Amino acid sequence: MMKHLLKLLDLSGEEIIEILNLADQLKYEQKHNIAHRHLEGKSLGMIFQKASTRTRVSFEVGMYQLGGNPLFLSSADMQIGRGEPVQDTARVLSRYLDGIMIRTFEQKEVEDLAKYGSISVINGLTDFCHPCQVLADLMTIREFKGTLEGHKLCFIGDGNNMMNSLIVGGLKTGMKVSVACPEGYDPPKEILDFANGYDCFELHRKPIDAAVDADVMITDVWASMGQEGEAEKRRKAFAGYQINDELMAAAHSDCMVQHCLPAHREEEITEKVFEAHANEIFEEAENRLHAQKAVMVKTMGN
Ligand code: CP
Ligand code: NVA
Repeated sequence: MMKHLLKLLDLSGEEIIEILNLADQLKYEQKHNIAHRHLEGKSLGMIFQKASTRTRVSFEVGMYQLGGNPLFLSSADMQIGRGEPVQDTARVLSRYLDGIMIRTFEQKEVEDLAKYGSISVINGLTDFCHPCQVLADLMTIREFKGTLEGHKLCFIGDGNNMMNSLIVGGLKTGMKVSVACPEGYDPPKEILDFANGYDCFELHRKPIDAAVDADVMITDVWASMGQEGEAEKRRKAFAGYQINDELMAAAHSDCMVQHCLPAHREEEITEKVFEAHANEIFEEAENRLHAQKAVMVKTMGN
């Protein structure tokens, strides 16, 4: 059992693999109409301070499939959106719910919810990390490649929530990880300190150097939610940080592609590469459902 999913840094490689194994099992059970109502009678509050398509729908549907009750809580309609402290929100919601999924800006808010409340907290994306997405990515890579260990994951782009979680999740599960980002857009020190403990981590400035012999190429938007005002500046800084035919040619010939979505075609990825790998990308989107059901069972199950 684990109580929370706040960031992948908190989990061991074995715990990540256990979640992926349960996710595979739940996917099988759902596809074969085998009942898996592990969260009968449980309620999950879902607080969104940012937009979402996949996270919202997959958590909501996942909770129904597990026999539980999801509540969508837009922060714009909650007192937290008007300044009620997170310490109080955590203690109140702990009296009604069994778990909270939160998507917000600061990682500290997620950590504080867990600290002051008494129920499970699941991170549905912060500026720092996106653990649920990366569990789905690892699940998909394992599904297509058979194993994670020894395969090379390459991330091209911003040192953002996605790069951070991929570095941690990839290295903890035995993958080689190489990233390419422009100067000034490196991942935060906490992530680099962690990654520098691994011989199989590389940080490059030139995307082509990072892509050599990759088994999976991954990218994300140049400007994340909350950075809309920097979009123009970032378009210049990230020019060339794109998954395209040239980069795919440097990777292994059977290299797969992942993108958390939404994607900006002809920015971080070309339309051609995106469509050639759409099958892998949309399986990744589907796997959000299965991976998160596993996280909910692990954190909120009996
Ligand atoms: N990938 C992802 O988290 O998608 P949403 O922003 O639509 O939830
Ligand atoms: N880095 C992106 C991921 C969206 C799922 C963002 O934070 O907007």
